[in-house]
Amino acid sequence: MLLPWLFLSSLGPAFVLASMYCTTLDACWSSAQIWASLNTSVNRHRIAMCPPAAPCHVLDPLFDEEMCTAINASWTSLFFGADQPGATQGTYWENGNASCYIDFWLDTPCEQGLVMPIVLNAHSLEDVQKGALGHDFIGHTSGEGSFLIWTRHVQNLGRSSDLRAVADILPEFVALGAPKGTKSVKAIRMGPGDGWANIYDLANRSDIVVVGGTGQTVSSTGGYVMGGGISILFGLFLLMRFIDVLQFTLVDAFGKKVIANAHQNSNLFWCSRGGGGGTFGVVTEVVHKTYPRYHNILAATLTVSAPNSTELASVLKVYLDLQHSLNDAQWWLTTAVQQTSFVLQAALFTPPVGVNLTQVAHEAFPSVILAAQNLSMSPAFVVQEFPNFLAVHNMFFPPSSSGSPEVLASHLIPCHVFENTTAMTLLVQVVTEPFTVIFNLLAGGTDLKVSPHATSVNPGWRKALHLIIFASGWTSSTPLSIWDTLRQTLLFWGDNYEHLLEMKCKFDPLGVFECPKCVGSEVFGS
Ligand SMILES: Cc1cc2nc3c(=O)[nH]c(=O)nc-3n(C[C@H](O)[C@H](O)[C@H](O)COP(=O)(O)OP(=O)(O)OC[C@H]3O[C@@H](n4cnc5c(N)ncnc54)[C@H](O)[C@@H]3O)c2cc1C
Ligand SMILES: *[C@@H]1O[C@H](CO)[C@@H](O)[C@H](O)[C@H]1NC(C)=O
Ligand SMILES: *[C@@H]1O[C@H](CO)[C@@H](O)[C@H](O)[C@H]1NC(C)=O
Ligand SMILES: *[C@@H]1O[C@H](CO)[C@@H](O)[C@H](O)[C@H]1NC(C)=O
Ligand SMILES: *[C@@H]1O[C@H](CO)[C@@H](O)[C@H](O)[C@H]1NC(C)=O
Ligand SMILES: *[C@@H]1O[C@H](CO)[C@@H](O)[C@H](O)[C@H]1NC(C)=O
Ligand SMILES: *[C@@H]1O[C@H](CO)[C@@H](O)[C@H](O)[C@H]1NC(C)=O
Ligand SMILES: *[C@@H]1O[C@H](CO)[C@@H](O)[C@H](O)[C@H]1NC(C)=O
Ligand SMILES: *[C@@H]1O[C@H](CO)[C@@H](O)[C@H](O)[C@H]1NC(C)=O
Repeated sequence: MLLPWLFLSSLGPAFVLASMYCTTLDACWSSAQIWASLNTSVNRHRIAMCPPAAPCHVLDPLFDEEMCTAINASWTSLFFGADQPGATQGTYWENGNASCYIDFWLDTPCEQGLVMPIVLNAHSLEDVQKGALGHDFIGHTSGEGSFLIWTRHVQNLGRSSDLRAVADILPEFVALGAPKGTKSVKAIRMGPGDGWANIYDLANRSDIVVVGGTGQTVSSTGGYVMGGGISILFGLFLLMRFIDVLQFTLVDAFGKKVIANAHQNSNLFWCSRGGGGGTFGVVTEVVHKTYPRYHNILAATLTVSAPNSTELASVLKVYLDLQHSLNDAQWWLTTAVQQTSFVLQAALFTPPVGVNLTQVAHEAFPSVILAAQNLSMSPAFVVQEFPNFLAVHNMFFPPSSSGSPEVLASHLIPCHVFENTTAMTLLVQVVTEPFTVIFNLLAGGTDLKVSPHATSVNPGWRKALHLIIFASGWTSSTPLSIWDTLRQTLLFWGDNYEHLLEMKCKFDPLGVFECPKCVGSEVFGS
């Protein structure tokens, strides 16, 4: 985000025009005096940010052996990362082409890289009006020389008297502006500082289910909901996903509080459901739909190892041929492929009652298990039952590690590809290349309970059966050009882009919110 937006209320548009697009690297960046007054007006929540690994670099002015040891010990903890405003999940997005890694090149001084030099540590909606661990895998949260509003400590502002309070349940929610007589629904209200771990804990205690993401510290209110997040519960809810957000509270580009839902500010509501974070406003609260709890969940894990990738590909092909039938049976599936092995995780959230569930699991994957048994290493198939969503979620997604140099790219695979033998053979070849590749079944193609105009996500989702994610690591010897290539090749919104851009120009005509690869970045910024 760029600076001028902060001053809209106090200094007016003239200032904004003069300093549009200033970064801290430019001469037009705000003077020390203005910063000092901001410092006072936001209760001294302003932090000057340095790359988090700086204390480990011997030639850096911040070098501090003791602090380095402490940072290094916690480095891979997602929760530690979430408490550092300059840290990102993949350290490429801290560094860019510069260098302040913790695992190599320690004998060079640190460069600021993509870490935002100035951060507003917001604690309330008012702080946000005056003025985020970056999880984003394509660097939406990074920005050379720009200004960051960190929302980690903004939790459910509905109860802002207690800043540590987390989300709460709204037993009878009706959206503001809804016609008289609109039926209420059970909902959950959450703030940007509420990670999914908080939300699932509250949901479990309240006997409800919330359709959300997997990252424990990923915000339930930020990049996930705004950018097209996918949930392990999609198999059940099909493409109802963004329908689950019932209402956003935002601070807009003019510093004004706005409530957007299907009945009021519906254009902004549409943009916020898929158009991306950091683009249309700062979300300070989300109201999300809920569902009744599950009582018995069937989960299965199949681990297959082969002597080489050719052998693995033959089993993978058999597995991919089953996708349509598994989708029809409402299995949730995610499959991580690593050249010569794959781990398939599966769950059935509402399995049939009164039958032997171990048998149900075996009968779902018979051809895959048979093909895997043909390999020299025998497969492992583990079947378990769980009493609630949180238990199965915690088993499949223990807190992951953070802070490694990795980059990701993803593709939607349309349903029809899975019916084309030639295409499947090619796909299987590609995914056994030296990357980590993750297949996520999307329950797509079932086209659909929801109007295509309901959300601004890429319409391609509606025809897709899988989202596949390619992940690759980065070492001191990897050419920078490879990572730059990955940054170039992203297309997020398909046919919805034009309308999103029109709305961006309407809601944020001065380009106050700017981030790389976001709607409008070709018009407004870097
Ligand atoms: C461990 C892990 C597991 C994940 N699992 C899933 C998953 O199951 N499904 C899935 O779809 N994705 C998943 N993701 C990806 C994740 O949803 C995205 O990276 C998402 O963009 C993170 O959002 P954030 O707000 O937490 O992070 P950030 O990196 O802080 O923000 C991402 C973008 O949103 C903007 N933003 C953040 N907060 C706000 C706000 N309050 N108002 C306006 N804009 C805001 C930022 O400016 C930035 O542009 C996972 C990521 C991790 C690290
Ligand atoms: C902001 O306030 C803090 C705390 O009083 C102070 O240490 C810091 O120097 C101030 N920064 C500026 C730029 O005024
Ligand atoms: C961090 O810890 C790892 C593992 O103990 C060690 O190999 C590495 O040298 C440490 N790095 C620094 C910068 O201290
Ligand atoms: C989830 O709720 C159940 C009660 O419904 C409880 O027994 C269980 O301990 C909770 N799980 C966690 C991880 O808190
Ligand atoms: C893969 O392994 C199988 C079985 O060990 C072997 O027959 C085959 O030649 C190997 N293929 C390659 C390309 O190494
Ligand atoms: C359920 O099926 C599995 C596998 O077919 C079998 O081993 C197990 O004994 C069955 N359990 C019961 C209670 O029948
Ligand atoms: C197992 O291997 C044999 C011999 O290579 C082959 O004929 C058979 O089709 C394989 N079975 C499966 C299920 O892949
Ligand atoms: C099947 O896939 C191949 C390879 O991508 C493509 O050339 C061919 O046109 C596809 N066939 C059909 C019927 O779609
Ligand atoms: C990073 O380096 C690559 C290749 O060396 C260059 O093409 C690219 O412009 C650089 N990117 C940035 C953001 O500086």
